[in-house]
Amino acid sequence: RPRVLSGIQPTSGSFHLGNYLGAVRQWVALQESHDAYYMVADLHAITVEQDPATLRENSRVSAAQLLGAGLDPDRCTLFVQSHVPEHAQLGWVVSCLTGFGEASRMTQFKDKSAKQGSERTSVGLFTYPLLQIADILLYQANAVPVGEDQRQHLELTRDLAVRFNTRFGKTFTVPEPYIVKETAKIFDLQDPEIKMSKSASSPKGIVTLLDDAKASAKKLKSAVTDTDTVIRYDEEKKPGVSNLLSIYSAITGRPVSELEQHFEGKMYGALKTELAEAFTEWVTPFQQRTRAYLEDPAELDRVLAKGAGKARETASGTLADVYDRVGFIPAK
Ligand code: TYM
Repeated sequence: RPRVLSGIQPTSGSFHLGNYLGAVRQWVALQESHDAYYMVADLHAITVEQDPATLRENSRVSAAQLLGAGLDPDRCTLFVQSHVPEHAQLGWVVSCLTGFGEASRMTQFKDKSAKQGSERTSVGLFTYPLLQIADILLYQANAVPVGEDQRQHLELTRDLAVRFNTRFGKTFTVPEPYIVKETAKIFDLQDPEIKMSKSASSPKGIVTLLDDAKASAKKLKSAVTDTDTVIRYDEEKKPGVSNLLSIYSAITGRPVSELEQHFEGKMYGALKTELAEAFTEWVTPFQQRTRAYLEDPAELDRVLAKGAGKARETASGTLADVYDRVGFIPAK
């Protein structure tokens, strides 16, 4: 079976609809056809100022949501990044292989650090993509299911895998991005020109999965559209309506063209109401399953311990090869 790896940051506890539709939903599907590794990227979460108790809580909540969304610990390897020390170890090797200039071109870093100012920006935030590259290469992943905002990091991953292989002999699988076009970028409900994001300016624009379903339904119903009345997919002229159509289509599995027909002659209110209903129908059992895992911390720990064990088996093999290739002598 081909292999996939992906990760999600536990930074804000509840995932949002962009995380789910852009990434997690694909993870659930891929566990059926692939040897799948998925992780809660807690090492990545300390690149910005954080609180230890909150991080602990959010890491558990993240793992519970992944299970609630449909990851099955018997079908995939679900683990917490910090439980597998090889990530940090390979991260160092990757950072020594990367040019400073090439790391400086990462747009996510440029955006985040510009907002924070350079004194408050950690070196870890700068080297973060290199740790992400280590995450992927450790598992020899063939594909990496992510949203559009991760594309640049995956291009650098491919470049570095090739560079290492060329310099030291074939060691890494060169991974392909796995980005589903229709849901690669879910937009903010209040500002459909920007992506839905944890750091959005207004909470009204983000649908968080663990919030009260009624509150989320209300956000969907008050999404910004346009002054026209036709329900039609047109990213450029109708970004708000197009975003709602993408979300509705992904949740229900009905193609956008079918939805356009279905809503012909109807007003935006009809689309919003039906979408809010479909969302509530999906999110309610998701929340119940997530809560059940949170109420059984011993079971959650067991799942994560088993995942970490399996992940380490794979990761340690790759790291041993890498150490040997770069010329480290074995510890006898
Ligand atoms: P993170 O935690 O920011 O986001 C998790 C996943 O959600 C996707 N995503 C979106 N997709 C569509 N529309 C949106 N509005 C949207 N917002 C977020 C992201 O693309 C991502 O797939 N660096 C990663 C985590 C990571 C990782 C890895 C991913 C760490 N190591 C190794 C892949 C492989 C991140 O910060 O994602």
